[in-house]
Amino acid sequence: MATTITKSEPVTAQNLRDWPLMSNNITREDLDTLIEFLKQDDPILTQSKNVIAFEQEWSQWVGVKHSVFVNSGSSANQITMAALKERFGGGEVIVPTLTWVSDIASVLQAGFDPVFVDINPKNLGMDTKQVIEKLTNKTRAVFLTHILGYNALDTALLAECQKRNIPLIEDVCESHGGTFQGKRLGSYGFASNFSFYYAHHMSTIEGGVVCTNDSEFYELLRMMRSHGMVRESKDEAVKARYKSNFPDLNPDFIFAFPAYNVRSTEINAVLGRSQLKRLDANNKNRTRNLNCFLDNLDPKKFYTDFDREGSCNYAFTLVLRHKDQALWDRIEKTLRERKIEFRRGTSGGGNQLRQPFLRRLFGESFEKYPNVDHVHFFGAYIGNYPDLGTDRIKALCELLNGI
Ligand SMILES: Cc1ncc(COP(=O)(O)O)c(C=O)c1O
Repeated sequence: MATTITKSEPVTAQNLRDWPLMSNNITREDLDTLIEFLKQDDPILTQSKNVIAFEQEWSQWVGVKHSVFVNSGSSANQITMAALKERFGGGEVIVPTLTWVSDIASVLQAGFDPVFVDINPKNLGMDTKQVIEKLTNKTRAVFLTHILGYNALDTALLAECQKRNIPLIEDVCESHGGTFQGKRLGSYGFASNFSFYYAHHMSTIEGGVVCTNDSEFYELLRMMRSHGMVRESKDEAVKARYKSNFPDLNPDFIFAFPAYNVRSTEINAVLGRSQLKRLDANNKNRTRNLNCFLDNLDPKKFYTDFDREGSCNYAFTLVLRHKDQALWDRIEKTLRERKIEFRRGTSGGGNQLRQPFLRRLFGESFEKYPNVDHVHFFGAYIGNYPDLGTDRIKALCELLNGI
C-alpha cells in the first residue's frame, strides 16, 4: 500500500495525486518478526505469552496498571460497557454525537440509555459545559472520544466526574500518544479503549485493548473477554468465591455473565510488540505533519484553530470555516479527481444521530446539535502517516487553498 507519487519530480499543487488514507502501517520489519515467530515448531497461536507481554508493555507505555488485549477497538468498547453495567448497574451514559458507531452501539447493547451532547469545535470532543449540564443521579458513566488525535479532556470535566464519583471512560482509538497536562490520554479514565485497526497510529491488523487502574474492573474485563468464564480471573479470591457458591459446577466451566469471546491471538500480539517499538518516533512525525498542514491552510477558508497542544493525529482534519455547499462540492470533486482519499464527516461519518440505527430510536433529534452537523456536512479527514514529506503537505494545502 505504498504511495504512488513519483519521487523523481518535485511535488506541486499541480501534479499532486494518489494519497491513500494510510500507507505502509505494517512494515517489512513487522512481517519479518512475525515470520521468525512462525518458524518455531508447533507454536501456540491462541492467546498466550505474547498477548501477556504485549499487555504489560502497553500498560507501561500508556501509564496504567492493567491492559486487556482484544480483537478490535469495538470489542474493547463492548466489554467495557458490559463490565460497567455489571459493576454499577443500569442508567444513563453521556456520549458524543461525533464518534464511532460502536461507542453508541456498545452503550445500547449493554442496556444503558445514551445521552447525547454536541461537540467543541476546537477539539471535536464533547462540549464539557453540555456534559456537566446533563449529569444526573442516573448517570453511570461519561464516555468521551478523543477525535482524530485531539485531546478532549479538561480540568472542569475531570473535577466534576471526580466530585460526583462518575466513571469517565476514554475512547482513545484515534489518539494513541496524545497527552493532557503531560500525561498520556488513556491514563485519566476509569477505563480507556484503544484500537489497532490498520488505519490507526499502529496496527495489529485488527485489534484493541482496554486499560484500567482498577484491579476489580480488570478481573471483570478478563472474564468479559472470554465467555464470562471465572477461570479467566487472575484473582484467586474471586475464583474461590464462585467455587464455593456453586459447588455443583466444574470450576473450569463457571460462566458468571452472559459475555463474549473477543480474545485476540499471538500473531496479533507479536505484531503489536513489534509496532510499539517505533510508535513514539512515528507519532513525532505525525505531529510535525499536522502542524505543517494547519499552518499552511488558508484560515479564512478553513478552520485552523484546533487545540493542538498534546494532540497526536493520524489524519488531517479539513473543516470549512463557513457553511458553503458549492465550495465543499468543489473540494470533494478535486480530491476525487486527484485520488486523494478522504472521509467526509470525520470520525464515524459525522453526526451519529443521523444514522438509521439512532433515527429509529430518537427520531429527528439530530438537528439539535449544530456543531457536529457543521463537521458532518463541511468536514473530512485526509491521511497523515509518518513518512509524508512536508513538501507533499504544502502542495496539498496550496491545492486546497486554491479551490
Ligand atoms: C473513535 C473510535 N472508537 C472505536 C473504533 C473501533 O475500532 P475498531 O475498528 O478496531 O473496531 C474506532 C474505529 O475506527 C474509532 O475511530
